[in-house]
Amino acid sequence: MSGRRIAAAWIRHHSVTTDLIENMDKKATWDRFYAENRNRTTTFKNFEWFFGFDAIRDFIMPSLQTKSHGDALLHVLDMGCGTSAIGPCIYRHSHLPVRVTCADISPIAVRQMLEHIQANTIQPHNASSQLEFVELDCTELQTHYVCRSVDLIVDKGTTDALLRSKEGKGKAGLVLKQCLKVLRSSGSLLQFSDEDPDARLVWLETEAQEAGVMSSDVSVQEVGELRGMTYYCYQVTPRPIV
Ligand SMILES: C[S@@+](CC[C@H](N)C(=O)[O-])C[C@H]1O[C@@H](n2cnc3c(N)ncnc32)[C@H](O)[C@@H]1O
Repeated sequence: MSGRRIAAAWIRHHSVTTDLIENMDKKATWDRFYAENRNRTTTFKNFEWFFGFDAIRDFIMPSLQTKSHGDALLHVLDMGCGTSAIGPCIYRHSHLPVRVTCADISPIAVRQMLEHIQANTIQPHNASSQLEFVELDCTELQTHYVCRSVDLIVDKGTTDALLRSKEGKGKAGLVLKQCLKVLRSSGSLLQFSDEDPDARLVWLETEAQEAGVMSSDVSVQEVGELRGMTYYCYQVTPRPIV
């Protein structure tokens, strides 16, 4: 390739990357991302932001165990699922009966996941478990869930995407408040992120307060290092003010 062609390709790649980073709160950005990703290969492959299920199963599955309430289905949400295999893996491996909802703002991602699951049926460990894929803007979680009905919300990279985009910070705060409204008092939100605790803990503690209405407990654990980056699991538990 000539020097000019390489430069043109680099500029094009650079502008696509900048566009993605600045607009990660926009549906159109992700529709394009998942459509282009799918076109790159002949067969569908789950795309994982940061890492896959095996890296975080020891955070997710024990947390789920603590939320059991008899034979009732535990409601689990993979918020901003994209084409990640996290939701299907929880459905497959959970001994407890679960209803796993994989929700994303991008209908392209949701359609790809649906088509993949329809073509490759998964046998859940618990025969009562359910798996669904929905197109949903998570700033409006209450259009899908009634208050205090969800046991576990997994957020791998979704809040990061909102916080890092040019106009997404307000949406990240809205999403967090919606999570706290739909979570049961025994429920938790697990955010997997590369953001440093100095910044994320302050943001979570500030945004999760609603004067006189809501408070929450926030904690952090290190997940590990990958390609020189340290990743964290932030746990947020609602504490309704009575
Ligand atoms: C960084 S990706 C992470 C995807 C997936 N969780 C993973 O681990 O691979 C962020 C995801 O959030 C989704 N998203 C962005 N804004 C959203 C919103 N308001 N409601 C629901 N999903 C959203 C995007 O479509 C994208 O799939």
